[in-house]
Amino acid sequence: MFSLEKFDIKLDTEYIGRNFYYLEEVDSTNDFILKSHEITEYGSVVLAENQKAGKGRLGRTWASVEGKNLTFSILLNEDLDKINISLINFAASLSVGNALENLYQLDVNLKWPNDVLVGKKKIAGILTETVSRSNKVEKAVIGIGINVNQPVFPEKFEIVPTSVRIELKREVSRERLLSEILNTFEENLTLLRYNPAEVLESWRNKCKLIGSKVKVKQGENIIVGKFIDIDENGALVLLRNEKEEKIHYGDVVTLREQ
Ligand code: BTN
Repeated sequence: MFSLEKFDIKLDTEYIGRNFYYLEEVDSTNDFILKSHEITEYGSVVLAENQKAGKGRLGRTWASVEGKNLTFSILLNEDLDKINISLINFAASLSVGNALENLYQLDVNLKWPNDVLVGKKKIAGILTETVSRSNKVEKAVIGIGINVNQPVFPEKFEIVPTSVRIELKREVSRERLLSEILNTFEENLTLLRYNPAEVLESWRNKCKLIGSKVKVKQGENIIVGKFIDIDENGALVLLRNEKEEKIHYGDVVTLREQ
């Protein structure tokens, strides 16, 4: 059981997670916030012990063993015009990475656009969904799935998964990890408003593939080139046939993993 008390003691934020919904089971925490008329407070967090239809990026699913991991979503519905929305994912993956390093000294490797790896194995993923009216983003729901205390992954995945428990060979406190992520995320959101370049620089510093030859999969389409940077909007800058190209979506894989 997730202990609200243990979580609350370590939560050190002004807004993020102050309104907290704990659910035993839901289809998807992202959908729960997106469909709700009651969850309106900025920074609300919905955590579910089990998702029956957890969603991943690019129409994939997110599988997570009940009660072992962290699957939650954060609502942002104010001042979205003051930040670059396309950088929210970078602030979120950086916050998860920072928390995993600070609490457990894991060797975090951020993978464009928003996967969190330990070495080459995936430990967390992020799915941000937005609601707009008249071309203005009114709501952003940041969904985060982290493999925490799951001991094994019997299914096959595109990227080999891992969990904190597998890496450390011991269980850890989900409450402590969640509070650390939310504390860090609130700080990174403030930075995103006043100094987004700093968020991007911290993100680049944890992205081990920058400088390598990669392939980017966009459905059936595969683009090969050298991953040289991410630009100010989070697009991947690829050097291809001596020209720089900006890639806005897809999955990055190293050539060695083909
Ligand atoms: C990915 O790596 O493809 C993104 C995975 C995002 C999963 C989280 S779990 C909580 C939230 N609710 C969802 O349905 N998905 C996100």
